[in-house]
Amino acid sequence: MSFLSLSHISKRYGAVEALHDVSLTLSKGGRLAILGPSGSGKTTLLRIIAGFEVPEIGTVVLDGEVLVGANQHVPSHRRQIGIVMQDGALFPHLSVADNVGFGLERGLAGRASQIKELLVMVGLDPALGIRSPDALSGGQQQRVALARALARAPRLLLLDEPFSALDATLRDTTRKAVSTLLQAAGITTILVTHDQSEALSFADQVAVMGEGHLLQLGTPQGVYRHPVSKPVASALGDAIILPARIAEGMAQCALGPVAVNDATARLDAEILLRPEQIKLTAPLTGTIGTVIECDFAGPFCAVTVRLDGGYALHMRQSSFNAPAQGARVGFTILGCAHIFTV
Ligand SMILES: Nc1ncnc2c1ncn2[C@@H]1O[C@H](COP(=O)(O)OP(=O)(O)OP(=O)(O)O)[C@@H](O)[C@H]1O
Ligand SMILES: [Mg+2]
Repeated sequence: MSFLSLSHISKRYGAVEALHDVSLTLSKGGRLAILGPSGSGKTTLLRIIAGFEVPEIGTVVLDGEVLVGANQHVPSHRRQIGIVMQDGALFPHLSVADNVGFGLERGLAGRASQIKELLVMVGLDPALGIRSPDALSGGQQQRVALARALARAPRLLLLDEPFSALDATLRDTTRKAVSTLLQAAGITTILVTHDQSEALSFADQVAVMGEGHLLQLGTPQGVYRHPVSKPVASALGDAIILPARIAEGMAQCALGPVAVNDATARLDAEILLRPEQIKLTAPLTGTIGTVIECDFAGPFCAVTVRLDGGYALHMRQSSFNAPAQGARVGFTILGCAHIFTV
C-alpha cells in the first residue's frame, strides 16, 4: 500500500490553473524528485501536501490518514510533515540551537543533547549552536533548516529547492550528505529541484511537471531514457530530437540509419538521442559533418556539427580529444534511439 497518495488534485489561483488533476503515490521511505519549468506547479503541490494551501478538488492521504478530502482539511501543524524551503527561512532572532529545537518542548529532558545530535546528524559541529544564523555560511544555514525539520520526526519531508542558493561544490557535498542521511534514516522525502542531475541521482521516482500537469512519473532511468514526450525529454537533460522514418526496428534520420527501441510499426516519428550517445569518429563512412563551433568549458567542449545534409547537432565531447573548428567528422551511435509516444 502506498504511504502518500495524491488523487486528482486541482488548484486555481484566479485565472491560473496551477495544478490540473495531479495524481501520484509514494511508498514509505521512498524519495520522489519533482522537476519542471518555472510556474509548472511544483511549489503549489508541496504547499497542498504541507497544508498551506487547499485544492479545489482532490484528496491527500498520508499513512492511511485523510489529510485533504471532501470536507476534510487537517491543519498543517497536525500533519507531522517537515518542510525546508529554498531560502532555509531560519528565525534570525534565535540561536542556531534554538532554531533546531524550535519544535521541541522547552523543558523537555535531554533537549540540549537532542539538538546536538541533530546538528551532528546534518554534518555540523554542535559548537555552532550558540551562533546566530547570520554567522553561518549558506550551506550551513541550509543544514540547520534541515535539522529543524528533522527535529519534529516528520512522517514526510518536503524539500523545495533546498540547495539552489549554494555554489556548485557546496551544493554537491550538501546534497550527498543529505541524501545519505535521509536514506539511512528511511525518511520519505519529496524534493523539488531545477537541477536535472540532482533529481536523477537523489530520487527513486521522478515526476516531471508541465503547466500544472503531471507529464510523467517513473524511475530516474525510465524517465531519462524513455520520456513520453519532447517536454519531458528536455526537462531531464540535453536532447537531440530528429524527425525519422521508422521501418523494421531502424530509424532513417539525418544521422543515417539508427536502431530504435520500439518495434511497433509506424512510419513517421520523432526520435530522441541523448548527446552522450553520439561519439565523433574519423570521417570514414556513413554520415559526415563539419565542426562549426567548439566551445571550451573545462572538462568538456560544447561542439556543434553541421551535417552534410544541413542539420546542426549540439553535443559534448571530452575537452582532451575535442575536434577543432572546421574538422570533418563521422559518427558512432551508442545504444538505441527512443521514439516518443505522445
Ligand atoms: N499565491 C498565488 N497567487 C496567485 N498565483 C499563484 C500563487 N502561487 C502560485 N501562483 C501561480 O501558480 C503557478 C504555479 O506556481 P508554483 O509556485 O507552484 O510554480 P513552481 O513550479 O514552483 O515554479 P518555480 O520553479 O518558479 O518555483 C504559477 O503560474 C504561479 O504564478
Ligand atoms: Mg517553486
